[in-house]
Amino acid sequence: MRKPVPRWTRAVVTGGAGFVGSHLCTALRKSGIDVVCVDDFCTGSPQNVVHLAGDDGFTLLRADTTEPFRVPGRPDVVLHLASPASPADYLRLPLHTLETGSLGTRNALALAREHGARFVLASTSEVYGDPQQHPQNERYWGNVNPVGPRSVYDEAKRYAEALSTAEAAVHGTDTAIVRLFNTYGPRMRAYDGRAVPTFIRQALAGEPLTVTGDGLQTRSITYVDDTVDGILAIAASDLSQPVNIGSPGELSILELAHIIVEMTGSTSPVQFVERPTDDLSVRCPDITLARDKLDWEPRVAAREGLARTIEWFRNHPER
Ligand SMILES: NC(=O)c1ccc[n+]([C@@H]2O[C@H](COP(=O)([O-])OP(=O)(O)OC[C@H]3O[C@@H](n4cnc5c(N)ncnc54)[C@H](O)[C@@H]3O)[C@@H](O)[C@H]2O)c1
Repeated sequence: MRKPVPRWTRAVVTGGAGFVGSHLCTALRKSGIDVVCVDDFCTGSPQNVVHLAGDDGFTLLRADTTEPFRVPGRPDVVLHLASPASPADYLRLPLHTLETGSLGTRNALALAREHGARFVLASTSEVYGDPQQHPQNERYWGNVNPVGPRSVYDEAKRYAEALSTAEAAVHGTDTAIVRLFNTYGPRMRAYDGRAVPTFIRQALAGEPLTVTGDGLQTRSITYVDDTVDGILAIAASDLSQPVNIGSPGELSILELAHIIVEMTGSTSPVQFVERPTDDLSVRCPDITLARDKLDWEPRVAAREGLARTIEWFRNHPER
């Protein structure tokens, strides 16, 4: 049985003006929980939470988590999402990404400790690197190149997981780790470089869909509402070990491109381009733990989530 969202009065969401964070802020407000959104807007934007402006229960605070920061009131939970997340962003911001994963996580943990709040780290399936185990369960330690171009993100998140675990052991802080798999949905940026928004943008513009390599590498894509639901289920639980949240429905990048062409009614062709260094060949979560312990599994089928996302991109050409 799923635990209901606890009677929290106040949550801090770092990275709350980003793609996933903005949906999380909205879900928390819908549950009547006050939200302090902390963001430096390095990859997010106040535009993502503009629908919450004027809501008395919502506070938007511009702060860089790599510096110690304070928030108004006493949070019951700190949901720590602040981090560049798309390859285009972390390759542009390599040092900021490493510092956000290390110093930023240290400062967010300090905030949780000060208030006796539950702390949830938004980690990533990228801790598994280019995996040699498939699907990936939480016991797999990963296969990460520590000096490759992706390492600034992968290693920052691995360090953040280690830091959260040590914080719980040393200070008794109530920590949780959620390993999110590729999430998509409204408010992604058209040029953030991730496959879903790139293909939708290209298909709607009638441009070729740029598929890297032979396109047979796989991803499993999760609709943002399911991801937010999973983050809240972990926050509401007493689990401290890492938990995968992602859809086990695996798709090749080429299949994804063809589905998006079909769903947009586009005539765009596929164009094969060079595959980035250290690009992973497979990705698929084993979600047994989330199913058994949290009663969580994704509910939104890929075609349904893609339809909602395509509609959003059609209605927001400026984004
Ligand atoms: N979207 C996915 O597919 C996915 C998958 C795995 C993990 N995650 C994790 O979820 C979180 C959110 O990802 P997203 O896709 O929404 O990315 P995003 O780039 O849209 O959002 C990240 C937010 O964090 C903010 N931020 C970054 N560094 C900061 C700092 N030092 N101080 C304050 N704010 C800072 C950005 O401005 C942005 O608003 C990230 O931690 C990411 O690693 C996302």
